[in-house]
Amino acid sequence: MTEAVFQRCINPACLATVELTCTAFRCPKCGALMDVAYDWDRLQPPRSLRELEVEWTQRTNPLSFSGVWRFRRLLPFAPPQAIMTIGEGQTILQRADQVAAYVGLRPGRLYLQYEGMNPSGSFKDNGMTAAFSHARLVGARRAACASTGNTSASLAVYCSAAGQMRAIIFIGSGKISYGKLAQALDHGALTVQIAGDFDDALARVQQVSRQLGIYLVNSINPFRLEGQKTIMFRILEALGWEVPDWIVVPGGNLGNVSSFGKAFMELVQLGLIPTAPRLAVINASGANTFFQLHQIQALRWNGGHYDQAAISRYYDTLDAANARASTLASAIEINRPVNLPKALRALEFCGGVVRQVSDQETMDAKAKVATGGLGCEPASAASVAGVRQLVQEGVIDPDERVVCVLTAHQLKDPTATVAYHSADPQTFEEVLGKRGVRRATFANRAIQVPNDLNEIVKAIEVYA
Ligand code: F0G
Repeated sequence: MTEAVFQRCINPACLATVELTCTAFRCPKCGALMDVAYDWDRLQPPRSLRELEVEWTQRTNPLSFSGVWRFRRLLPFAPPQAIMTIGEGQTILQRADQVAAYVGLRPGRLYLQYEGMNPSGSFKDNGMTAAFSHARLVGARRAACASTGNTSASLAVYCSAAGQMRAIIFIGSGKISYGKLAQALDHGALTVQIAGDFDDALARVQQVSRQLGIYLVNSINPFRLEGQKTIMFRILEALGWEVPDWIVVPGGNLGNVSSFGKAFMELVQLGLIPTAPRLAVINASGANTFFQLHQIQALRWNGGHYDQAAISRYYDTLDAANARASTLASAIEINRPVNLPKALRALEFCGGVVRQVSDQETMDAKAKVATGGLGCEPASAASVAGVRQLVQEGVIDPDERVVCVLTAHQLKDPTATVAYHSADPQTFEEVLGKRGVRRATFANRAIQVPNDLNEIVKAIEVYA
């Protein structure tokens, strides 16, 4: 490869390269996943992370304003004219002492990286701006994804903002939250509902994209993962460029953990940080492929020589039992994570662990995050429930500095939230009980009062 930026197969025994503009996103020689690769000697990465601070002083330039593109020297694949930004990545790292007390960390040791502040309401915008810019670079006219909601909303927003590309989204029937479907429809995406779940939709969208030459924006697309690296850059920035001890993230298709691992591999390689933090990936127990393979079966990246047969055997047992992913945390209701090998690589580099949490633990953690001041969807709160477990196990020390990534906004799965707080046992049972949630430990029930001033005043004096 003679270019400074290209795509490279992640399999160390292959390392085949293809051009930046290729949109197959699979190795043409061995079928493995691809990385966006940089010949850093021919590019201008910063010599220190502090150098990047000058960007904010130039924020009338939309690229410097964006929380993704102000780090563009660390993802230098797109010429400025191809970049499509809608001001994504203006997110905050919040110190969360109330939540810290709940998970067993000392005050000042837990931070929440709130990605719900993105324009479409989830971390996906970090990756979508990057994939969308690549799509523009290669002249795509149509872009597609399979989604449980957030990816589709994000794609729909970017397509409508740019006005040059049609969004096509694949969703499992009955498997998308109303808030997210509303976004996709309102922003003009062609919405294809198929009889099946996310795993089915993802398999189909890959076939259809190949057949029709449609640009694919699911996280198998390595350009998505380049954008998501900036979530880590913003965390470091907010900590004055200090590296925390742990980054904790929910695991679905395992794009985030793969992207975070790549970010830290590159920062270490460039000498910009001394060491990587540890990574913890939290599965829902009803969608726990990564937990089963990494934690129980001890599947490891092993320098790239991971046991592919163990993965195939695991999927065969799922098929034989007709097992389907099932969790209230709809965003991570995924049994066949496409980025599994990259996630193994990330955990090897960062000394990572995987845990699983029940929907009960997730919903309780979500309520605690919300009373602590930030609103997130269930999948995001799995990270907080995971930290609680890791502290109880003694894997995370109460004095360590931990960052949980709250991947998306509270308004994604409001049915679950309202059912949790509802005083109506039937609503509770219908939405939560059948998923194994037994109690709303931190419920905040609405109070019923007659339409009478004295009664209303009395009730408020009793409860508040
Ligand atoms: N958190 C949220 C809020 C998500 O929407 C997703 C994925 C994940 C976590 C999982 O992230 O794949 O990087 O491990 N949502 C996809 C979607 C499935 O369609 O929006 P991952």
